[in-house]
Amino acid sequence: MNNIKPLAKQANNKSIPQHIAIIMDGNGRWAQLQGKGRVAGHKAGVESVRAVVASARKSNVKALTLFAFSSENWQRPAKEVGVLMDLFMYVLTKEVKRLHKHNIRFQVIGDLSRFSDDLQKKIAKSEQLTINNTGLVLSIAANYGGRWDIAQAAKKLASDVNQGIISLDDINEDSFNEQTSLADLPTLDLLIRTGGDCRISNFLLWQVAYAELFFTDTLWPDFNEKKFQEVINCFDQRERRFGKTGEQARKEQIL
Ligand code: IPE
Ligand code: IPE
Ligand code: MG
Repeated sequence: MNNIKPLAKQANNKSIPQHIAIIMDGNGRWAQLQGKGRVAGHKAGVESVRAVVASARKSNVKALTLFAFSSENWQRPAKEVGVLMDLFMYVLTKEVKRLHKHNIRFQVIGDLSRFSDDLQKKIAKSEQLTINNTGLVLSIAANYGGRWDIAQAAKKLASDVNQGIISLDDINEDSFNEQTSLADLPTLDLLIRTGGDCRISNFLLWQVAYAELFFTDTLWPDFNEKKFQEVINCFDQRERRFGKTGEQARKEQIL
């Protein structure tokens, strides 16, 4: 895909990832370690979201995509799912004005049709409020699955062919990418997962193609601005070769 290309170095000679995604995992274990119920971990995790959003904004990251609820998370006990939905509603009500004040564009990606009407309305209203903002783009993945994202893009292209809007030959990596959830954002540079597990859990399967992966044992409620900056520094140390030799990649970095 032609949008996979090395990053230009910043003025301070440090590569800042333009698009960072985070699998925010470990809330339940964090709460259990404190002798509390899992819900306490989800509540504490909201503070880490605030910290990471502020830090991304200050570092001039262009896009931050956070995995809040997967398409598989519906399988959890109904009570926990209910609390997560209530928390989502509460955070939207409380935080979106602050995001707007900081020029952040807010959006939710995923299959929203399974959410309550109230939540869907709240999401639409929040997105609408911030739609013209030009700063950080904050995407929350809710009832999101990477396979769903790929399947819905395939369905859209098939429908366009069916209706004669495009021809079969128009389907390629770029036109497919255009139908995926984060198409209008810079290519994903860095994927972080907290909580100690080294897996993708059906997150951004298409988008992860050439992202740097970073796994940390830190549980999500313990993740903070300092830890986030440490990961960004670590990203700067990685050599991204995009299939080329190390020698070629280093030459391009200097140019
Ligand atoms: C991540 O934390 C939050 C969601 C999946 C909603 P978990 O709830 O998965 O926490 P652990 O992995 O059980 O510790
Ligand atoms: C991934 O965490 C989903 C979110 C962080 C929202 P899970 O805790 O659901 O992942 P698995 O089930 O352990 O892979
Ligand atoms: Mg988990």
